[in-house]
Amino acid sequence: MSSAWDYSPAPESTDMVDIRGDYGLFIDGTWSEPASGEYMKTINPATEEVLAAIPVADETDIDRAVAAASKAFKKWSKLPGSERARFIFRIARVIQERSRELAVLETMNGGKPIKESRDLDVPLAAAHFFYHAGWADKLEYAFPARKVEPLGVAAQIIPWNFPLLMLAWKIAPALATGNTVVLKPAETTPLTALTFASICEQVGLPPGVVNIVTGAGATGAMLVRHPDVQKVAFTGSTEVGKEIQRAIAGSGKRLTLELGGKAANIVFDDAPLDQAIEGIVNGIFFNQGHVCCAGSRLLVQEGVFDALIAKLKHRLGTLRLGDPLDKNTDIGAINSRQQLDKIKELVGAGIDEGAELYQADCPLPERGFWFPPTVFTGVSQSHRIAREEIFGPVLSVLTFRTPEEAVEKANNTPFGLSAGVWTEKGSRILWMADRLKAGVVWANTFNRFDPASPFGGYKESGFGREGGRHGLEPYVRLG
Ligand code: NAI
Ligand code: MG
Repeated sequence: MSSAWDYSPAPESTDMVDIRGDYGLFIDGTWSEPASGEYMKTINPATEEVLAAIPVADETDIDRAVAAASKAFKKWSKLPGSERARFIFRIARVIQERSRELAVLETMNGGKPIKESRDLDVPLAAAHFFYHAGWADKLEYAFPARKVEPLGVAAQIIPWNFPLLMLAWKIAPALATGNTVVLKPAETTPLTALTFASICEQVGLPPGVVNIVTGAGATGAMLVRHPDVQKVAFTGSTEVGKEIQRAIAGSGKRLTLELGGKAANIVFDDAPLDQAIEGIVNGIFFNQGHVCCAGSRLLVQEGVFDALIAKLKHRLGTLRLGDPLDKNTDIGAINSRQQLDKIKELVGAGIDEGAELYQADCPLPERGFWFPPTVFTGVSQSHRIAREEIFGPVLSVLTFRTPEEAVEKANNTPFGLSAGVWTEKGSRILWMADRLKAGVVWANTFNRFDPASPFGGYKESGFGREGGRHGLEPYVRLG
């Protein structure tokens, strides 16, 4: 591409973040070393530079954290809703005040472009706390004529793709409904959760209401199994979701699971193609495709296939991949080497199974974990790249002739989290939305989020809803 179109570097400053050499566990309002004395390193996936040492919590630490949350529950659950709302509102305000720090941290620790962490992750996290501050004293209106009681201690396990935002989705409804929390962030992205702990201190949240414990899968497994936990909320892989479901079966613990997806993004021949291209690009390349509701299967009506693919290939060539802290970057780093290996394996399977690969011609940085924007055409429904979640910047394109065929192909998946429909006809949007087995159906847009709108899946994408009035339900006992 002509150098006339190159952008000068525009890196966001990292001056406002203060990353400590090592962190503690945040239990009962104080910072402590892990009982085991064991730490793990967290890195910047764009540079492989070590950012900090993170404690690995074991059984003793989990016991302490759950005990602190149980103790705090006694008072927190009795506070008037308007008092809880004040704390939640303050948290939202401080997230706004510290938004640049949080966005830079999120980008450094997770690899996502700063324009996404700055314009989506952090503002949506604040919005989620604002929204739930509003519910805290109105639960009797959320559930008219019912007695509404909190459950107790919520064990919350979150993934690495939207670390702060998933924390907000978990913690805000739990606190609004009067529960207390022990949350474990993902092993690759603990820094914004630990910074959130300092926000809890800053707003004077009573000790033990929010506890943050770090560690890998083993720590999470201990947390969800703890007998004094009443509610488990998990976002992550379908595999671990099933394991958690088995582990707590019969315990009486309430469970919500938000798992994987393989969403169909369906383009009809009357769709405005240029807008659809933007929706397709957003659908699969937003956050490097590390998105459970990513539009990873593009279904194109045959009549517009050639025109659409030509436009898509052109658009791929304009995406800028590189330094996630650069304000012009569209595609950042892959979150971890493990995730990069998974993407490479599935792309290899796509090639072996005979799909046709197209990749934008973009140089990859030497250090760090990177994968170029990738499109597969000639994909059939039996290919692994059409069935399995890749969780990377890889789009599989299939075609269809009739709306019935589009529905049949879209629903031919074990998942059911989201879908997109692109068409000029309002009636067709409604017809499709009725038939698509997906928790969210976007029409002529994609990846839109609002705290008032419930989000969640069908089938292997999990159960339970987060956001909106529906998202309060998993945290309350209704009398
Ligand atoms: P994962 O499901 O292993 O990790 C998610 C969270 O669960 C992390 O905090 C992890 O420490 C914790 N965890 C792991 N094993 C656990 C256990 N036995 N008990 C309790 N907690 C446990 O996901 P992973 O391995 O990072 O990614 C694998 C694949 O999962 C990805 O390639 C992607 O396809 C999918 N995924 C889906 C996400 C979503 O948003 N629905 C988020 C992250 C991953
Ligand atoms: Mg895993």
